[in-house]
Amino acid sequence: MSNLCGIFGCIIREGEAVKLITDGLKRLEYRGYDSTGVAVIDNNQMDIRKDKGRIEEVVRNLRILEMSGKIGLGHTRWATHGAPALENAHPHTDGSESIALIHNGVIENYMELKDELIEKGHVFKSRTDTEVIPHLIEEEMKSDIGIQGSMLRVLRRLRGSYALVVLSTHEPDKMYVARNESPLVLGVSDNGTFCASDVPALLPYTNQVVYLRNGEMAVLDIDGYRLIKISDGSEIERPTTEITWSPEMAEKQGYKHYMLKEIFEQPTSLRDGLRLQENYLNLLTQFLDRGKEVFLVAAGTSFHSCLAGSYLFSKLARLTTFPVVSSEFMERYGSTVGIDSIVLTVSQSGETYDTLKAIDHARMRASTVLGITNTVGSTLTRVSRAYLIQQSGPEIGVAATKTFTSQVLVLAQMALRLAKNRGKLSQDELDELDDKLHYVPDWVEESLKNNDERIQKLAHDHMDKKFFVFLGRGISSATALEGRLKQLEITYVPSLAYPAGESKHGPISIIEEGVTCIFVCPRGETHSHIIGSIMEMKSRGARIISICEEGDDDIKRLSDEVVEMPRGIPEELSPIIYITPLQLFAYHLAILKGLDPDKPRNLAKSVTVP
Ligand code: F6R
Repeated sequence: MSNLCGIFGCIIREGEAVKLITDGLKRLEYRGYDSTGVAVIDNNQMDIRKDKGRIEEVVRNLRILEMSGKIGLGHTRWATHGAPALENAHPHTDGSESIALIHNGVIENYMELKDELIEKGHVFKSRTDTEVIPHLIEEEMKSDIGIQGSMLRVLRRLRGSYALVVLSTHEPDKMYVARNESPLVLGVSDNGTFCASDVPALLPYTNQVVYLRNGEMAVLDIDGYRLIKISDGSEIERPTTEITWSPEMAEKQGYKHYMLKEIFEQPTSLRDGLRLQENYLNLLTQFLDRGKEVFLVAAGTSFHSCLAGSYLFSKLARLTTFPVVSSEFMERYGSTVGIDSIVLTVSQSGETYDTLKAIDHARMRASTVLGITNTVGSTLTRVSRAYLIQQSGPEIGVAATKTFTSQVLVLAQMALRLAKNRGKLSQDELDELDDKLHYVPDWVEESLKNNDERIQKLAHDHMDKKFFVFLGRGISSATALEGRLKQLEITYVPSLAYPAGESKHGPISIIEEGVTCIFVCPRGETHSHIIGSIMEMKSRGARIISICEEGDDDIKRLSDEVVEMPRGIPEELSPIIYITPLQLFAYHLAILKGLDPDKPRNLAKSVTVP
């Protein structure tokens, strides 16, 4: 499961629980959906109905509104483990079907837990990581410690992320919930107690909420909630807070636009992106290793991820790759791609017309097609030999933001794995990069927190500029291109983006007094060259904004303005962090110009036409 499934649960005095559950789930539909499921308890009988499909469809087909009961839970799933299918839909149950459980997140150690349970005779119906949890609770309940004691023991064994809700006929008037890294909010009103993955689902019923924190569980009943620390079982006191958002604001979690919400969501999506399924990561890298040549095929932002990926594959794994925009693939490589070629296709939606056309052609010529996408069940997942999910959850803003950072993170992990398999880096180098990879979400968080205000001011100072130039060297040329694409898409201000070394072969002719040049300058092999490029532009009167490491005095001396990034980021991973100020710059510029960044003119989120 990704962290963007929808969860809703309630225990109420008046009305039917299913009515509230289905309404709540509809309010969470923006989080993504491919299957829906509901469980209620009435007269100590558990009734579970679930199937793949959208909420309305499943509710109608399974007559969910006819289910009766005052306590229940519901789930909309956005698949990442196991395809969208009835057996993979939530709730999942234990062997005796007395426990129903819904979950958002990814359980990293589910394979070993599952093996252990199979050994003890448990039988599994799904291919999900989630199903191990009710079986583990069932196993612990054998020692007569009740649901609370059993859950505490189980939760301490889970590695990964979860927001989960448990309903059981053993205690038919209570609900147990827990959280680690996936969001979960509780709500209380005169009519009862609620839980949901997000505030918008609660707002029609209450504005009094409690945010569950990492490492906490809670016991809910009709009168309220009790919070418990998972590590030692101690009780926690936390009063409710009042939410003053309108329902529309709540859907964007208080942010003005989806784009801004998604920019600030990146630390979370990147943490999820570090939990790739090992077996698929291995499989894809084995294919890459075997090919005669590797093409990286994508459009727009996904192409910029491929461009960054091509540097990563070459620098870390010593693998030459050919990045190419989907619409040019056939003209450029159509007659050379063949049975020994690997075509690694990257597409957030998995439905981009040009990208699918390129794949059709490659498959016709018997090439091996691999995929990186955000959408399980998309055409790309159906036609690829193997694929990885970028784990960033639904992206609603038309301008792709978390897509870029998640895709580059996936490509970096592939390149590192390939480097390891090929023996191209020493153990020390591998360990160090692996370590740094795990810092990436924190670096992004720090950069967003420290720079947002500064960038707003920068955008304000540059809002009347008629033209911008974005420059970077090496892997940062991909960052520059992506930063420029964001700005182009939502502010409509003309701009150029180039590998900085190329600018003297033409683009420099447009530089004159006052033209704003934005340089992407991480520390690393390209650092001394980028200094030369800045000097070239500065001496022709350009106004220089640099994105550089904190305390980088060489760059600071030459620049008119700088945005400082955390120290210690390796150049190879820099696009993931250094793109974030450029995303914010584009966003704030659009706002200052009175434009709606979520709805740029002439653009669609998924380009499914030729
Ligand atoms: C840029 C953007 C588009 C997409 C492109 C590819 O912000 O959103 O350029 O990146 O249309 O889409 P996917 O990745 O779905 O194939």
